Amino acid sequence: MAYNLLKGKRGIIFGALDEKSIAWKVALQAKEEGAEFVLSNAPLAMRMGEINKLAEICNAQVIPADATSVEDLEKLFTQAQEILGGKIDFVLHSIGMSPNIRKGKAYGELNYEWFQRTLDVSALSFHKVMAVAEKLDAMNEWGSIVALSYIAAQRVFPDYTDMAQAKAMLESIARSYGYRMAKQKKVRVNTISQSPTKTTAGTGVGGFDVFYEYSDKMSPLGNAPAEACADYCITLFSDLTRYVTMQNLLHDGGFSSMGISEDVVNLMMANQQ
Ligand SMILES: NC(=O)c1ccc[n+]([C@@H]2O[C@H](COP(=O)([O-])OP(=O)(O)OC[C@H]3O[C@@H](n4cnc5c(N)ncnc54)[C@H](O)[C@@H]3O)[C@@H](O)[C@H]2O)c1
Repeated sequence: MAYNLLKGKRGIIFGALDEKSIAWKVALQAKEEGAEFVLSNAPLAMRMGEINKLAEICNAQVIPADATSVEDLEKLFTQAQEILGGKIDFVLHSIGMSPNIRKGKAYGELNYEWFQRTLDVSALSFHKVMAVAEKLDAMNEWGSIVALSYIAAQRVFPDYTDMAQAKAMLESIARSYGYRMAKQKKVRVNTISQSPTKTTAGTGVGGFDVFYEYSDKMSPLGNAPAEACADYCITLFSDLTRYVTMQNLLHDGGFSSMGISEDVVNLMMANQQ
């Protein structure tokens, strides 16, 4: 059900790769709520062609940009304002990638060049997006910027390796830039810490199926699905959350408050029998 929560708002949505992507669901719901936006992804991701399907459904234009390139981001923000006819009200940063995870490197054997690439793509890109928006004065007052994070920023999930540091940095950038954006333009900046979700980035993490199940059994509401994450993003882009900023918001079905659950106890007892 749509409530017109984003009527008249203009946005940039990064990171829709295919139908499973969290950004894909956000785009569909933003459209339903009345927003106009452009879609962006890395030039390499464009080759898969999936994003064009989404663009058609949403009547949105696609602007390729490597989120680690300030030059690409400058072009993106400039073109987005031209296409949409004004300054930007909301930005979704739904970008993550670790070459070390892709190659299955253990934490003690990380390739440091790849580590830097992980940080650049998954965390520094968030700073670059906001620095470009600031330099071009591209955000409207009371706008909203959201990035997606994961609880491995605070807790240890061994197979998440260098992405844990990337997420910790991402959340820290949200606080530091959130201060600056609030002071300059009354723009809010938050991260949403989402449950494990079956997407290309998610399932690339070693042992994903097991920790997806574990997390589901530990969360009293179960893992939050991607559609529900999109709902939450929409509320943060809407005018109903104008004073929420510099937060890491847990969207995890209760996982982060749990010690152990009966479901996990029962599972372990069953294994002992
Ligand atoms: N899937 C999960 O379990 C989960 C849980 C919590 C948080 N997240 C986060 O959600 C976000 C979206 O991931 P997803 O799960 O929808 O997976 P996804 O694979 O669909 O999305 C990741 C996106 O990052 C893009 N990307 C990679 N390098 C880029 C670059 N240099 N420039 C621009 N874009 C680039 C990819 O093309 C892709 O569209 C990520 O930040 C991820 O860490 C995912």
